[in-house]
Amino acid sequence: MTLLAFESSCDETSVAVVRDGVVLSNQVASQIQLHGEYGGVVPELAAREHLKNLLPVARAALSAAYVSPAQLDAVAATQGPGLAIALLIGLKAAQAVAFALSKPFIGINHHEAHLYSPWIAGQPPAADFSAFEPNVSLIVSGGHTLLVLVSAELEHRVLGGTIDDAAGECFDKTGKLMGLPYPAGPVIDQLAQAGNPSAYDFPRPLLHDARDDFSFSGLKTSVRYYLRDHPGLLDDPQKVRDLCASVQAAIVEVLVTKTIRAAQRNGVKCVTASGGVTCNQGLRLALERACQKNGLRLRLAARNLCTDNAAMIGILAGRKLLKAGAGFISVLDTEPEPGWALA
Ligand code: KG4
Ligand code: ZN
Repeated sequence: MTLLAFESSCDETSVAVVRDGVVLSNQVASQIQLHGEYGGVVPELAAREHLKNLLPVARAALSAAYVSPAQLDAVAATQGPGLAIALLIGLKAAQAVAFALSKPFIGINHHEAHLYSPWIAGQPPAADFSAFEPNVSLIVSGGHTLLVLVSAELEHRVLGGTIDDAAGECFDKTGKLMGLPYPAGPVIDQLAQAGNPSAYDFPRPLLHDARDDFSFSGLKTSVRYYLRDHPGLLDDPQKVRDLCASVQAAIVEVLVTKTIRAAQRNGVKCVTASGGVTCNQGLRLALERACQKNGLRLRLAARNLCTDNAAMIGILAGRKLLKAGAGFISVLDTEPEPGWALA
């Protein structure tokens, strides 16, 4: 089965061609530069950019996969969660393609797709579902921080999430306090390499709380107060590097400790992670060490599949269509679901 998949939930316009679990192409047009000027994603601008980029990106995806529209068997798109006017562009374009080709359309939950991106590996990238095992999955991005128990393929239960800021948001907002450009996550990651993670002792919110929930706004506030009480600190480049390393250490310790604890409590032997923050070198290393120490297998999404992409949408859509078989009912006029929470 050959699928064309669309992703436009936030600030990446992505189209992928996926055939029988193999990613034939995955084109991504990122808007990071554009929104950087405003210090965050501006929905109206994101939607206009999606409109401008969608068809060229779709053409590029088809051509890189050596697939013509006539060879497509189905079309998929992210239906939610995300920015309503951004979702609308990819969703309606995908439904129009499905309508024009008289092929089935399937709407996909963006977070459910993240759950399976760590299983995409190799060259060409392919979903390694033969190796699938029950796992606890950490989804960490600019908008979300979720811990999900994936008990079987296509079966999951949300264990917890953030009660205020997402982990990526915490990176971005503390970075802004330090005068770093948006998005600050990757910059903090780089600066932290040469910093001392024990230089400043920032709080680890909800670390010892038995629930699987997260909270990051207090950490951001304590960085704000620290900077207010230590004027001139940002003039010293080494102190900035130490600050980055210390903030990163606090975020990473909370994410890793709670993920490992959730895996142990739910009796699974595998941990997976995806979302933009999973690009963080400190987080990847800490997860590797913690999983090794606790006898857990770890699957991290490949760096190019951590951030938003249509490959994961196509992979999940393919599995869902395969499972539904002849019983699948295609509905072409569904609307975006900006607040579609994972169950
Ligand atoms: O998944 P994503 O591309 O988009 C959504 O927010 O849905 O994630 C973007 C987030 C931003 O907050 C960005 O700062 C963060 O991921 N991020 C990182 C790194 N790369 C991206 N955070 C820490 N370290 C990184 N290397
Ligand atoms: Zn995402």
